[in-house]
Amino acid sequence: MIIFGITGDLAKRYLLPALYHLCKDDLLPEQMVIIGTSRQSLDLNQFLGQVELCVLDQDKVCDPQVIKKLHSLLELIQIDPVQVSDYTKLKDRLAAIEKDYKICMNRLFYLSIPPQLYQPVIQNLGISGLNGSCQHGDALTRLLVEKPFGYDIASATDLIDRTAEHFTEDQMFRIDHYLAKETVQNILRFRQANPDIEDRWNGASIEAIDIEAYESLGIENRKFYDEIGALRDIIQSHLWQLVALLAMELPQTLTSQLIHSSKEKLLASIGPLPTNKVALNTTRGQYNGYWQDIGNASSSTETFAAVRFNIPTKRWQQTIFTVATGKKLNEKCTRIGIKFIDGTNVEFRIQPQPAVNVISKTPLITNFSDSETPLNHANPDAYERVLIDAIRGDHTLFASRSEILSSWRSLQPLVDEWAKGHPSLKHYQPASRPSDLLRFSKS
Ligand code: BG6
Repeated sequence: MIIFGITGDLAKRYLLPALYHLCKDDLLPEQMVIIGTSRQSLDLNQFLGQVELCVLDQDKVCDPQVIKKLHSLLELIQIDPVQVSDYTKLKDRLAAIEKDYKICMNRLFYLSIPPQLYQPVIQNLGISGLNGSCQHGDALTRLLVEKPFGYDIASATDLIDRTAEHFTEDQMFRIDHYLAKETVQNILRFRQANPDIEDRWNGASIEAIDIEAYESLGIENRKFYDEIGALRDIIQSHLWQLVALLAMELPQTLTSQLIHSSKEKLLASIGPLPTNKVALNTTRGQYNGYWQDIGNASSSTETFAAVRFNIPTKRWQQTIFTVATGKKLNEKCTRIGIKFIDGTNVEFRIQPQPAVNVISKTPLITNFSDSETPLNHANPDAYERVLIDAIRGDHTLFASRSEILSSWRSLQPLVDEWAKGHPSLKHYQPASRPSDLLRFSKS
């Protein structure tokens, strides 16, 4: 596994702790090397000393044996990701490792880097021949990319097309770690296990579906957030994927191929949200103090965003969907609320404390054991699943090219109207209550 950007926030907050837990549970491949790339020359001990690996509730203390094992798997290599000549160093190192192990290894390139670097890095990997496996083997090479995939429909199309010059769709793993969260995985299981509810899973019975992802943290060290904002960071990816899982036709069986095909159809059916309703049906805000955090006193990047919309299909046109997200709010809470006309309420609580809660006259099945996962500790982090699935080559939890493009097509009118200042940006106090911000303009 080659991690580009190992010193970044994402690698430190999510990736390395996930690797620690996989290592602890003995779930990493027997023969594995993890190479972290960074621009500066770094000492491995010093670097690991800065990373908090044991972040899950059940970690009382870090296990020194596991730290030692992880340490032995990891090495750092100094590379400037935009210099194609530096990739020879990486190529030589991979060849040397494979010579030592006397096998062709599967290679997983993980791009945990700012999005503006995706294109150059992907191109450099391709030009250096790192998109294939070692010379005489049939091992697989895969590319894992973090969101956002593009800044708008044009750049997303361009990124996807250019990536396709070097990597096939089969090699691509576009990460949306929300799809790997326990309760998110249970959305389809819940629909499958409760046929009575599934019969009423439509606009004639459901009046509103609210999808909310709120955080108490600000943007932390992620200076590049200023070019992204909440719409691109959370709505276009995570929340739009949740819309897809909630509103898609339920496939007969939950295979990767059928799930993707159903999601793709649903996302395409949303179409571009009406431009003339953007000012009315969306809201965007920025927390006070964001300018200082980002070091840009004229930034109008949103840290809170919400959109209300309909899906113009026979099944859903009567239901009001609302998606909302924000940073520096009074709590960290991600949930989906489904309000039925007859008073039934279903809540998928994603975090904290994953759960499916229902208010219903008839009993519903809400507990699902995850028999297919190899992850055996309670409440595994989403990144552990992401990594295991990519290592095994299972595409179920990764976003397809068509899903990404349809999401951008739907949200492009927001990108355009917001850039013109419609609706205007509201400023809010840190620790605000989301309900105070979730107000749309009056028509
Ligand atoms: C990431 C976003 O995808 O998700 C971050 O880029 C955000 O801005 C994070 O903080 C939230 O993830 P989680 O799993 O903590 O809800």
